[in-house]
Amino acid sequence: MAQQSWWSFFKAFLSDRQRIGAIAPTSTGVGRRMAQLGDIAHARNVVEFGPGTGPITAQILEALPADARMWAFEIHEPFVEHLRANITDPRFTVLAESAEHIRELRAREAPEGFDAIICSIPFSLLPPPVTSGILAAGAAALRPGGVFVALQYHPTYLKPIMREHFESVTGGWYPWNLPPTLLLSGRGSRHTN
Ligand SMILES: C[S@@+](CC[C@H](N)C(=O)[O-])C[C@H]1O[C@@H](n2cnc3c(N)ncnc32)[C@H](O)[C@@H]1O
Repeated sequence: MAQQSWWSFFKAFLSDRQRIGAIAPTSTGVGRRMAQLGDIAHARNVVEFGPGTGPITAQILEALPADARMWAFEIHEPFVEHLRANITDPRFTVLAESAEHIRELRAREAPEGFDAIICSIPFSLLPPPVTSGILAAGAAALRPGGVFVALQYHPTYLKPIMREHFESVTGGWYPWNLPPTLLLSGRGSRHTN
């Protein structure tokens, strides 16, 4: 499956560079670190934005309590099919929709709000209004005390935009990935929860 993931990821990158945003899936170590930053081991309801072929998803599911639930928003149809074919975990649901639809998901499945959102959408390659729309929807869908964890390769782009949506934004570089990645955590929504 790993080799298949690399190939389908690279093909996806060639077909839609802007929205896929990377040539290869993220490393296991980054996924594990994002699961720690999201405190997934103590979560009940978790969302992933942009799971791709699922390398971060696998680490979230590894850390997630047995009775918790996880949803993932993915817009690239071959990735949706890949995830449906390869992840049979009953706690996991993939939604073939854009991340802003977390609003409807919250109303339907977790009115109290989500504990964590783990995101690897390549925001620096997307139009700014798309980024703002996704961050606003994500911030508003968290429960009080919930956290939005974002992976980015661009060193400076996302932090000031996250500050428009979250009261506190912290983070730093995770060097054990090629290329090194910036991991940012946003807490305290500036939007109505
Ligand atoms: C850099 S890839 C990350 C894939 C995977 N999480 C990984 O780390 O290897 C970005 C992913 O975000 C997805 N994506 C881009 N825009 C999206 C949106 N608006 N809603 C949901 N997924 C989106 C892309 O289809 C792609 O799968």
